[in-house]
Amino acid sequence: MYRVIAFDAFGTIFDVYSMAQLAEEIYPGSGQAISVMWRDRQIEYTRLVSMADPSQEGSSYYTSFWDLTIKALQYTCARLNLEMTEEIQGRFMNQYAQLDIFPDVIPVLKELQHQGMHTSILSNGSQEMLKTVVDHQQLSPYFEKLISVDDARHFKVMPQTYQLILDQFSCQKKDVLFISCNAWDIVGAAWFGLPTYWVNRFKLPFETIGLPPTYQASSLIDLPAYL
Ligand code: LAC
Repeated sequence: MYRVIAFDAFGTIFDVYSMAQLAEEIYPGSGQAISVMWRDRQIEYTRLVSMADPSQEGSSYYTSFWDLTIKALQYTCARLNLEMTEEIQGRFMNQYAQLDIFPDVIPVLKELQHQGMHTSILSNGSQEMLKTVVDHQQLSPYFEKLISVDDARHFKVMPQTYQLILDQFSCQKKDVLFISCNAWDIVGAAWFGLPTYWVNRFKLPFETIGLPPTYQASSLIDLPAYL
């Protein structure tokens, strides 16, 4: 039914929970607040960059997700009145490059490979950021392509970003199953016209706007059964 399975990266493949643990270690009592505000601000900055200049050829404000992640961390610490040093920033960003993967990832990627599926990542992450974290977890044999929004110079949920999957695989929307743990990412992909699989890892309600996911489950384990 589908030819291409395209995964979001952070939170879907890579477990960003360790960021909250590190934040708690560095700033006891504030770990949870930091990780939530940091993630929100990071995504908010991506939207600012794309909305301020939605041109087809890319936003003139485009800067990599890595840079926006650092800026969002700096903002978060300032907002929470926490002292930030170069050394602390380095520890956080190093952790980003070495994130763990969720335990369901490898078995499912192996099964997809066995079924002869085309697989890719489509992420806000910069090309370098994706390559680093994928190599660290030795996942490169399982992904045919690592697609970064760098190529569109826009961030999700701009339609140009989901279009990258179709361009890279020369396929149609109906051929792709897009998988993300972020409900907003599912809404964006579904509005673009892709079939979707929402990995609701954190038992959250779905967004109250947009189209519901084609499939939804608490992990990736059920995925091969739907294909
Ligand atoms: C990504 C973020 C949105 O990997 O999780 O694109």
